[in-house]
Formats: sequence, structure tokens, C-alpha cells
Amino acid sequence: MSNDRTFTPAAGRAEWTPFYDFAIALLTRERRWRSALLRQTAPAPGDRILDVGCGTGTFAVMLKRAEPGAHLVGLDPDADVLVRARAKAAKAAAEVAFRQGFARDADADAGRFTKVVSSLVFHQVPLEEKRAGFAAIGRALRPGGTLHVADYGLQRTPLMRAAFRQIQKLDGFDNTEPNARGVLPELMREAGFAAVEETQVIATVTGSISIYRAQRADV
Ligand SMILES: C[S@@+](CC[C@H](N)C(=O)[O-])C[C@H]1O[C@@H](n2cnc3c(N)ncnc32)[C@H](O)[C@@H]1O
Repeated sequence: MSNDRTFTPAAGRAEWTPFYDFAIALLTRERRWRSALLRQTAPAPGDRILDVGCGTGTFAVMLKRAEPGAHLVGLDPDADVLVRARAKAAKAAAEVAFRQGFARDADADAGRFTKVVSSLVFHQVPLEEKRAGFAAIGRALRPGGTLHVADYGLQRTPLMRAAFRQIQKLDGFDNTEPNARGVLPELMREAGFAAVEETQVIATVTGSISIYRAQRADV
């Protein structure tokens, strides 16, 4: 990973990372969207699954516990959050390999993964990194592999728009606004994904979280 890139930490500021898990549980209807994303990902024995922007490792650990026969890799640029992720996985006795890197580094193991997941990451990265990230994820997947994303997406109502302003204040307007305008499916298609679908929209007090599914196109 090159060191000249910056990123927004999990909770918006590095000093707030210790409170990230608590804030997500409180402010995002976490159980609802994580269980929807887990059902959709449907981990199977022999799956090789990459979690892009894995943060404190909650979803990678959930996947491993749901299907111990799947191989899990978590990727995140933040060394501090990875310390927390490793501790969480060790406590849960869940074997997950954690690596430091950005979404655009997802293709370090090109063609190796059957599934890629990502939750609450793309809203807080610059547009150029969203593009580069989806392109690298496409290369990381095997032919026929699938992408499963949960993130703040198109904010359809004035109420959800207003709620999402809290996230925009925390994570910055420039990076978050394209998500609120519904750019993610368009960027997935641009990166060559097929069958791009928004499968669920979940209203929360911090804006609506969309679940997306897409497939590497060359099947
Ligand atoms: C809001 S947290 C989400 C963490 C985790 N996926 C979850 O569901 O709880 C966003 C994570 O994305 C990571 N991140 C920020 N910029 C990134 C980038 N360009 N590529 C990959 N991950 C990034 C942050 O370090 C942080 O851990």
C-alpha cells in the first residue's frame, strides 16, 4: 500500500474509532442491514470472500461464523482499525486474514475471490476512489463472482435527505453527496458489473441504507 493516500477513519475522526461499534449499533439499525447483507451474501463452503473497508471486522467475523468453511479476507487502509478487527476475530475464534490497503488495492489477488462484500465504505471515499475501487473489485473476483454492498445510497425523501446530513457533516459533503444522489449502481455498471440491483432500502435515523448486488460480467 502506498502511504501518500488519505482516508476518512471509521467514525469520521481517528480519536473516535474506539466508539465506532457503539455508534453504528445506535445510529444505523445495524442488526437489520447486517442480517440482510448476510442473507444476500449467502456464504457457502469453499467461498473466498473479501471484505473491502472491513473496519473493526464485525461483518467479516459474522460471515466466518455463519459459514466456517468460507475463507475470509478483510481489507482496510487504517492500521488502528485493523488492530481492533484482529482482536475481535481472535475473541470470536473466527479465522479471518486482515490486510492493510485501499479499495483500489482489492485486486492484489486478482481473480481469486468468489464474493466481495463492502459495508458503509463507499459513501466516505472520493469519487475517483469509488471508481478505482469498483474496477479493482471487478478484477479481484473470479468470473461469475458477486459483489454485495450495504451503504448510504439514494436518499429518496426529504426526511431521509435531512437525516443523511448528519453523516455528511461527519464524513464531508464532497465524498458523500454522490451516494445521496444514487451514483453507486451507475459506478458499478461503469466498472463492468452486470445485473446491478438495489435489493433493499432500509430507513435509519442517519439516512437510508441501500443493499446492492452485482455480478462480474464475463460469465
Ligand atoms: C464506516 S467504516 C465501515 C467499516 C465496516 N465495513 C463496517 O461495516 O462496520 C468505513 C471503513 O472504510 C475504511 N476506508 C476509508 N477509505 C477507504 C478506502 N479508500 N478504501 C477502503 N476502505 C476505506 C475506513 O478505514 C473504515 O474502516
